[in-house]
Amino acid sequence: MADPLSIEAILNRLSVPDQWNIHVFDHLTSTNTLALEWAATDAPHGTVLLAELQSAGRGRGDRPWRTPRGTALALSVILRPFIENERVPWIGLAAAVATVDAIEAVSGLQCRVKWPNDVLIGQKKVAGILTECRFKTENAPPAVVVGIGVNVNNRAAALPEDIRASATSLLDATGGETDRNQLAAALLDALACWVGTLRHGVEKLSGRWTMASATRGQQLAILTPDGVVEGADRGLDSTGCLMLEQRNGVRRAIHSGEVLLCRTAVPPLV
Ligand code: BTN
Repeated sequence: MADPLSIEAILNRLSVPDQWNIHVFDHLTSTNTLALEWAATDAPHGTVLLAELQSAGRGRGDRPWRTPRGTALALSVILRPFIENERVPWIGLAAAVATVDAIEAVSGLQCRVKWPNDVLIGQKKVAGILTECRFKTENAPPAVVVGIGVNVNNRAAALPEDIRASATSLLDATGGETDRNQLAAALLDALACWVGTLRHGVEKLSGRWTMASATRGQQLAILTPDGVVEGADRGLDSTGCLMLEQRNGVRRAIHSGEVLLCRTAVPPLV
């Protein structure tokens, strides 16, 4: 088994060690669940929870998320952002880009993002992000819990059958083990950087996200709370919604959903 996660090992590799308040657990039901409880109290901005094993890890859309002991990366970060509530969706997009940067820096592999914030190697998912908010009062700024799960030294073949074919891991992609402490530090450095850019607007992050997009220009079918919507992927709008251009030329902003299908690329309309 690779080295266990350790607060010291992560802190040693961070560029600014004192901006995160790191807690490592042997096992938890879900780092996001505990982070949400802590966020409801006074846990400060920058609190990080990592677990070697999650017994009830949670994915988007109420799906389970597997974190086998000692081989994957499961962490949640409590942020009390300085941005307006309508920009909060950008935090999840920042986490996706940070995950891409960290994996690329540590492994040399190229990654892509699939809206809203799946991280892919080739066509397969290597990491997922679950962003949840806690509002103390309606008008108070929310605490945002960003949960990031990365398949690192675990094999996709050992994941549940229904996701096995669409998943990968760094071990599968590189054939070698990755230092999870180094990856965690690279991820926290990149997250601090990308969340920080939101102080000055969304343009920089939007540009990076678009560069990393796996589906830009492609014909997508997205399962939304209002049903399946089809259209060409025209990138993000200023609120972080995905713009789909429908056959009639009308653009529709998708707030939440799941990309079901990518079809052949369609040229941009001018
Ligand atoms: C997805 O469905 O793609 C999101 C997966 C998010 C998993 C991470 S692992 C750390 C954190 N704790 C959880 O229970 N979920 C997130």
